[in-house]
Amino acid sequence: MKSAIFDLDGVIVDTAKFHFLAWKKISQKYGYELDETQNEKLKGISRSDSLINILKWSNKQISKIEFTKTLEEKNIIYLNLIKNLTKEDTLPGVFKILSFLKKKGIKIALGSASKNSIIVLNKLSLTKYFDVIIDGNDVVNSKPDPEVFIKGAKELGVSCEECIVFEDSEAGVKAARFAKMNVVGICNSKKELKNTLFNIEGFLSIKSNKILKHFL
Ligand code: BG6
Ligand code: MG
Repeated sequence: MKSAIFDLDGVIVDTAKFHFLAWKKISQKYGYELDETQNEKLKGISRSDSLINILKWSNKQISKIEFTKTLEEKNIIYLNLIKNLTKEDTLPGVFKILSFLKKKGIKIALGSASKNSIIVLNKLSLTKYFDVIIDGNDVVNSKPDPEVFIKGAKELGVSCEECIVFEDSEAGVKAARFAKMNVVGICNSKKELKNTLFNIEGFLSIKSNKILKHFL
């Protein structure tokens, strides 16, 4: 029996839009206008890798102290934006798929780059569904490096090949594929993900049994 590893932002909850708004504000500070296309490249990667990219795109160099301060500033903006997040904000079908997998005895892990994963999961009252949580606090290398998923599999006590990853970002799909895991892509027709088993717009658009067949 296979195990499931879920990404968080953009898969379980639409916090991707809040990361975008926060980075947009930080980018403006450096005279750079971050748009949605460019923002796709920030999805799935760590907070510091995101800032490294923004500085590159803005053609700016800053001191180590300002770098650290800016990361904190971005997080304050982000935390303020998600302050009123409740379980109503969980993406449609997520409760259903998590309970379905649990009922079938399939182990579930979280594999996210976010250092705010526990805060977000608690706000959504979803923490109890996860047998293992690996996030930005537990890894040295962020996606597309496979570390987060390899650690997830190890803590679940299964081999990488036995894991199916639910991901919405290119960096995340790459990370999972590097770890030899299959991926169900979460995306819409505007943004296709490659190298996945199949893509879905969200969990409402798929019958639980279609997913189950890949876990047996
Ligand atoms: C990823 C998001 O899950 O976590 C990125 O896709 C985000 O947009 C990254 O930058 C790090 O999140 P945080 O909460 O640690 O700043
Ligand atoms: Mg994501």
